[in-house]
Amino acid sequence: MNSTGKIEDNWYKQWFNNKEYLELYKHRNSADAKAIAGLIMKNVPLKKGSYVLDLACGNGRHSVIIASKGFKVLGVDLSTFLISEARKKLKSDYSRYTRRLSFEIRDMRKLGFKNEFDMVVNLFSSFAYFRSDRQNKKVISEISASLKTGGFFFFDFLNESYVRRNLVPFDMTKRNRKVIIQVREITGGFVKKNIIIVSNSGGGSDNAVSSFYEMIRLYSLSDLRKMFKDNGLRILKTFGDYSGSKFNKKNSERLIILAQKTINLKR
Ligand SMILES: C[S@@+](CC[C@H](N)C(=O)[O-])C[C@H]1O[C@@H](n2cnc3c(N)ncnc32)[C@H](O)[C@@H]1O
Repeated sequence: MNSTGKIEDNWYKQWFNNKEYLELYKHRNSADAKAIAGLIMKNVPLKKGSYVLDLACGNGRHSVIIASKGFKVLGVDLSTFLISEARKKLKSDYSRYTRRLSFEIRDMRKLGFKNEFDMVVNLFSSFAYFRSDRQNKKVISEISASLKTGGFFFFDFLNESYVRRNLVPFDMTKRNRKVIIQVREITGGFVKKNIIIVSNSGGGSDNAVSSFYEMIRLYSLSDLRKMFKDNGLRILKTFGDYSGSKFNKKNSERLIILAQKTINLKR
């Protein structure tokens, strides 16, 4: 396997375990999380006390908002760094929710839950990270297995068609003492991004350069519909943004899906 192959197999372990991830996506903050949480609350008919899985919860920014609405929440993520950030907050900012909010390290391909949750959420493009379709499909199968029959799946993904039309191949930003260069391309059905961060120590010779990689398989609504159907998940609604606008293949920035588990498949 060449070095690109290795990066493509491990990028998500490196990138999401680094504090630069939280820096780069600073705008994906609590206010942004409140917007989609509002859409969830408006559209998913859940009773207070229902059990919710925030799958790939990151630092728990959505988990805490969902817990604040009276639900019991488990946030799971592969990143030890992000889970430790979430747990730190559980001792400080989130402390009033300790009885109904917890965080665990788990891999989305091997969750191991069976008919436990009333809702699973997967937010901010936390899907399609694997080179093989089989592994990406396994995630949907694990989500379905985790849900009780009748439970809901709320999914916030990119709109592949919008990404294909509007890709910015290159940009450069300055932040504090850092220059961040992002180079994007679409190839082999994936959107791929190289992130190069040059930190200026102020002293000249100590400048540090770090580089990261991101890649997401560009599944369309029809690809996802098939994947969901194969796993007993029926699509109830789609939206194109966090305010709940209708999904439009050409113009919507997001593809947001509310689905329901209708069949409990034998696994
Ligand atoms: C784009 S971030 C979004 C995090 C969070 N949902 C948010 O909106 O802040 C994607 C998340 O997926 C997690 N992740 C990546 N691969 C994973 C895996 N195999 N199993 C579980 N989580 C994973 C990352 O660690 C990261 O926290």
